[in-house]
Amino acid sequence: MDKFIIKGGKSLFGSVKVGGAKNASLALIPSALLTSGVSKLYNTPGLNDVYTMLKLVRHLGADAQFENDVVTIDTTGVAVLEAPYEHVKKMRASVYVLGPLLARYGYAKVSLPGGCAWGPRPINLHIEGLKKLGAQIDLVDGYIVAKAKKLQGNRINFDVPSVGATGNLLMAAVLAQGETILNNAAMEPEITNLAELLIKMGARIEGVGTPILHITGVDDLQSANIETIPDRIEAGTLLVAGAITGGKVTVESSNPLHIYSVIAKMEESGVTITYGDRSVTVDATGIRPEGVNVTTGPFPGYPTDMQAQWIAYMATANGVSTVTDTIYRDRFTHVPELSRLGADIEVKDNSAVVRGNNKLSGAKVMSTDLRASASLILAGLAAQGTTEVLRIYHLDRGYQNLELKLGALGADIERVPGTEY
Ligand code: EPZ
Repeated sequence: MDKFIIKGGKSLFGSVKVGGAKNASLALIPSALLTSGVSKLYNTPGLNDVYTMLKLVRHLGADAQFENDVVTIDTTGVAVLEAPYEHVKKMRASVYVLGPLLARYGYAKVSLPGGCAWGPRPINLHIEGLKKLGAQIDLVDGYIVAKAKKLQGNRINFDVPSVGATGNLLMAAVLAQGETILNNAAMEPEITNLAELLIKMGARIEGVGTPILHITGVDDLQSANIETIPDRIEAGTLLVAGAITGGKVTVESSNPLHIYSVIAKMEESGVTITYGDRSVTVDATGIRPEGVNVTTGPFPGYPTDMQAQWIAYMATANGVSTVTDTIYRDRFTHVPELSRLGADIEVKDNSAVVRGNNKLSGAKVMSTDLRASASLILAGLAAQGTTEVLRIYHLDRGYQNLELKLGALGADIERVPGTEY
């Protein structure tokens, strides 16, 4: 298990390019299962979660190649309609194959995802939605067994705007008989990217980018190609790296509108933000950021995937701030580890009260999940002395070569491979 060694206290300066969006790729790849043919997904990030999804579609019989940011999937050979526990336990997004397999083949057997570092992370909205489309769903030995001769369009209302349920039901409804309404649908850019691909494949979807999606089912779809959107969470993480170290960092090939809620909160903290045509620059030179309260919410609200990074930033800011997560009420496993670096944070229910200080000092800390590891790295960049961030395999699920990108901006950060703990 790799670890990072960070010698903190250095301000970051320069430009860095973000990769393709992990959470777009994890929906775009399974959408190829809706038809038989060859599709190309450009700007796909080389992340462990992407490799996990590619392994799963290969298990189903597809041929999937990944070279130079381009994934080429040939689904002609798909013959297995089962996503086994071994795959799904590694990554809950594997449940995204449920909708397309059911819609195209009338059958899917997918393992229930099991636990996560924080949660609960139920999939009741996926299951209830598929039942509304006429699927027969049984839970057998920890597996979802879904059957439907032909899915029938229907009106579906989501209690909460779920990214995964919206993606799964979108991929199911495009081949259903008749009209489907997805009300209170997620509007995350990754869902918009998925809808764009489905429309290129011949799907009929109205309301893309709004909370009400109207799908008119078609008999079949054709393979298509698409450009994966930039990863807004990587972009936000790199902007916070510039701010927390008092530097000046330009994040290129990002779409500011995809993380405007994060940018607005950073400006509120006192840093200067400027825009290029496809870039955002944060300038934190010479200022001590002020504490700013954040409450996470569905897009376009402040993303829960940037909550841990914000807490790290606020731990070094001036004054007290409160960070509340309304999406995942217990997504705070990073807090005890940040405290080892000297952060003064108290978690009560689903809120963290952060008393900022600029006395973070290096220590050994343990990654517990993907965004927690990003948070610890950010704090390590700002801390005086040396920080060791252990179990970097969590980070490698969702960030490609982060240590190289931060190093190119002036961070003193090194990956130490394969150290057993
Ligand atoms: C997606 O997960 C992302 N993952 C997560 O990113 C992200 O944190 C999350 O959306 C919220 O934005 C991918 O896209 C692969 P949800 P997902 O369904 O789809 C509740 C990362 O760090 N809910 O939008 O699983 C759920 O409990 C990962 O990249 C139900 O109640 O999240 C939560 O409170 C972590 N029933 C809320 O909805 C359901 O059936 C949002 O969850 C489904 C969800």
